[in-house]
Amino acid sequence: MLYITALIVHVISIVVWIGGVAFVTLVTFPMIRRENNSLEQVMMFQGVEHRFALIAKSMVILVGLSGLYLILEKGMDAGVWLMIFIWSFYAALLFGLEKIIFEKLFSKPGEKADMNKVFALLQGFHWIVLALSFLAIGAGLWTAHY
Ligand code: HEM
Repeated sequence: MLYITALIVHVISIVVWIGGVAFVTLVTFPMIRRENNSLEQVMMFQGVEHRFALIAKSMVILVGLSGLYLILEKGMDAGVWLMIFIWSFYAALLFGLEKIIFEKLFSKPGEKADMNKVFALLQGFHWIVLALSFLAIGAGLWTAHY
């Protein structure tokens, strides 16, 4: 019973979190980049970012905790190592790295940052994050079913 509960928590948290990453990459960034006013662009981005940050952090914690329990039940293999590796990258981003990156991108003292460039860069980065997420999902399915 505990095993199936952990599995359900694991998968639902992944759906919410990676679904959010996909939405931001495929819907939010194109909307932001169509906007001409850079102040409006930053406001839109920060609105979404602020709202999603807490959800993403909670989901990453749930994925990690449920994953640890799944290891106790099923043991380790290459697929699990890959999930842990990609998860650690996300955890580092959400709990510190992201803040440092945003501060660098959005506060350029003395010169006006080119917001179109900044958002093109951020969208590209989110594409990489989304691709890594698909890789982690593949690793999980391989581990559980192959
Ligand atoms: C990027 C984050 C992660 C993603 C996208 C992910 C995705 C998945 C998916 C899709 C499954 C297959 C579920 C099924 O079909 O039964 C799975 C299983 C599993 N995950 Fe993750 N996972 C992630 C992080 C983790 C972490 C951090 C751990 C360990 C601490 C972990 C441990 C496991 C284990 C042990 C299984 C196998 C369960 C079984 O064989 O029934 N995962 N994961």
